[in-house]
Amino acid sequence: MSRRVGIIGHPVGHSLSPAFQQAAFSHSGLDVVYERWETPLTSLPDRVASLRAPEVLGANVTVPHKEHVIPLLDEVGGLAARAGAVNTIVNREGRLFGFNTDGPGFIAALRNEAAFEPAGRSFLLLGAGGAARGIALALLEARATVDIWNRTPGRAVALARDLGAPARALADPPHLASYDCLVNCTTVGMEGGPDPRGLPCPLETAGPALLVVDIVYTPRETPLLRRAAARGLRTLGGLPMLIYQGALAFELWTGIPAPVDVMFRAAENELARREGAAP
Ligand code: ATR
Repeated sequence: MSRRVGIIGHPVGHSLSPAFQQAAFSHSGLDVVYERWETPLTSLPDRVASLRAPEVLGANVTVPHKEHVIPLLDEVGGLAARAGAVNTIVNREGRLFGFNTDGPGFIAALRNEAAFEPAGRSFLLLGAGGAARGIALALLEARATVDIWNRTPGRAVALARDLGAPARALADPPHLASYDCLVNCTTVGMEGGPDPRGLPCPLETAGPALLVVDIVYTPRETPLLRRAAARGLRTLGGLPMLIYQGALAFELWTGIPAPVDVMFRAAENELARREGAAP
């Protein structure tokens, strides 16, 4: 009997996870089918309950349900509870365990794809939504220092207060020279987002060693990354974070190491296929 995993969200039609997770299962010789589980909020309790079936390994959870699934689960891991968001559910003999691999996926991407160790380094996060929260928590756990700048300053203040020291909210536009790494956690620069051609912050004050990271992965090279590269700065795009959060989820479901290279290739092929198919 095939086992099943899927992605729960609304909408899930554009998710890349089915492409690269299915490639990982097939490559690993596992008889698992990864499905898209389109789930409006009213169906969420039934959808989550269906994960207790013996043939279901678990699920990914995406927008807008990462918070809403929490009361429907049996246990929620420390980081997911602190983030207030679950992106991975594991079914262990009918009991549902919630995890958050977004922040750890970001750290793994930094270490493995940019050879950048966050411990003791200073980060500036742009944005104060759920993405910024998950990344800030993982960075603090990795013993980095974190400052937060947001268009709406009150949200940055609230997030920093919630995270506790040593996270700080900035009141004034950031001076980049004092940071080792800048991370865009806003939707600025995202295709189909509110400001696809915009920059989340100017780069004029950046020092030569600044690493510029964008968690946006459509397009692969955002306006921020293009500007950073033109200034000779090191850059990291959003695809590695997506792949590593998925790789950690794969490992939670299966207990075996994820074939990360296979997952990268499948995601890149799928993105290229979509670009080719675009009008
Ligand atoms: P997520 O949970 O994915 O992080 P979110 O909670 O909607 O999504 O947060 C999106 C982030 O992008 C916020 O920090 C938002 O800034 P505000 O808090 O001021 O809304 C930021 N953002 C979105 N559009 C923006 C824009 N045009 N300029 C600057 N920041 C923007």
